[in-house]
Amino acid sequence: MNGYPKVNYIGNKEKIADWIVSLIPQNAETFFDAFSGGASVSYAAKKKGLCVYSNDILRINYFLAKSWIENNNITLTEKDVDTLFQGVPFEGFMYREYANTYYYPDECKTLDLLRHNIESLNDEYKKALAFSLIRRAMIRKMPYSRFTINWSKIQQLRDEKFSYEHYKRSRSYHNKSFKYHVEDNLSAYNNAVFSNRKENKALNLDVFDAIDKVSADVIYMDPPYAGTMNDYHGFYGVLDSYINEEKSRPFDNNFQSKDTISEMFEKLFGKLKKYRYWMLSYNSKAKPAKDELLSIIYKFAKSVEVFEMPYAYKVTGKEKKQKDIEYLFRVKNDNYGK
Ligand SMILES: C[S@@+](CC[C@H](N)C(=O)[O-])C[C@H]1O[C@@H](n2cnc3c(N)ncnc32)[C@H](O)[C@@H]1O
Repeated sequence: MNGYPKVNYIGNKEKIADWIVSLIPQNAETFFDAFSGGASVSYAAKKKGLCVYSNDILRINYFLAKSWIENNNITLTEKDVDTLFQGVPFEGFMYREYANTYYYPDECKTLDLLRHNIESLNDEYKKALAFSLIRRAMIRKMPYSRFTINWSKIQQLRDEKFSYEHYKRSRSYHNKSFKYHVEDNLSAYNNAVFSNRKENKALNLDVFDAIDKVSADVIYMDPPYAGTMNDYHGFYGVLDSYINEEKSRPFDNNFQSKDTISEMFEKLFGKLKKYRYWMLSYNSKAKPAKDELLSIIYKFAKSVEVFEMPYAYKVTGKEKKQKDIEYLFRVKNDNYGK
């Protein structure tokens, strides 16, 4: 096992996942990551030996969790990769819907071929790993690694000469083939597969439906932070459209808007009686402000602890203090079992 691979998920907790997991109460055995995203926290919890349930509303994130959280030992061989790329690219869903929107026409045809060939892999974990690798390739080829960029900007940033002249970076990886990126990441994605001898599970549900289904000692919540860049359907919905070969719809229960977020939290906290502990990631930039969020939590629980992790990130080699603070709220649920 070589550890969590390069996923590059917006808003991921990769750098602080071990810190978050170190705050899981000692007597907990089962951990429910209800907004699992790129699955970095689930991965750290799996490493710690917990039985992990990972859930996210995006189908692509379900495949990430299926690849490394639920999957204990299946990997993709070079022969599987040959299977993925066999045959002639054709004009399918991606070509019809997204040629000259996100990728060039020939690239869309290759994506259509890959989508078709995935079905020839005869194992659900192989399919999940294949989707994860194709996602990685699609993200590497997409400027800013998200699908909220318009086509003229995409073309500009994929023009290596233009990019070099304006940004001093040629970004040549955007123009490498899907095959190049899949092969480049294959061993890291395979090496991230490991077993912790627990029956871990990936789910693909709205959080409120997932709560109905999943029982665990701890629920961990890392929802989109209202008031920050948080349009996850915009960032990644195209990947779900690709998987389902049907345009995906924005999420109904949206934790994005500053106007409705307090209501959403009330609704969410009101449904957590069956979890002994609640853990919630939060940030000093998110709305509502920390104290207001605390007052919402106090409507449902009395024992609340707040832990702080100041982020420091590097800018051009210098340490720059960032004002953002990551919080971790840990709640002992007094109504557990009542
Ligand atoms: C901040 S990200 C989680 C990041 C994750 N902890 C990681 O380390 O990669 C928030 C996630 O919430 C998911 N999400 C948004 N609304 C949801 C809903 N109603 N039900 C379930 N998941 C939702 C988004 O798809 C996104 O992946």
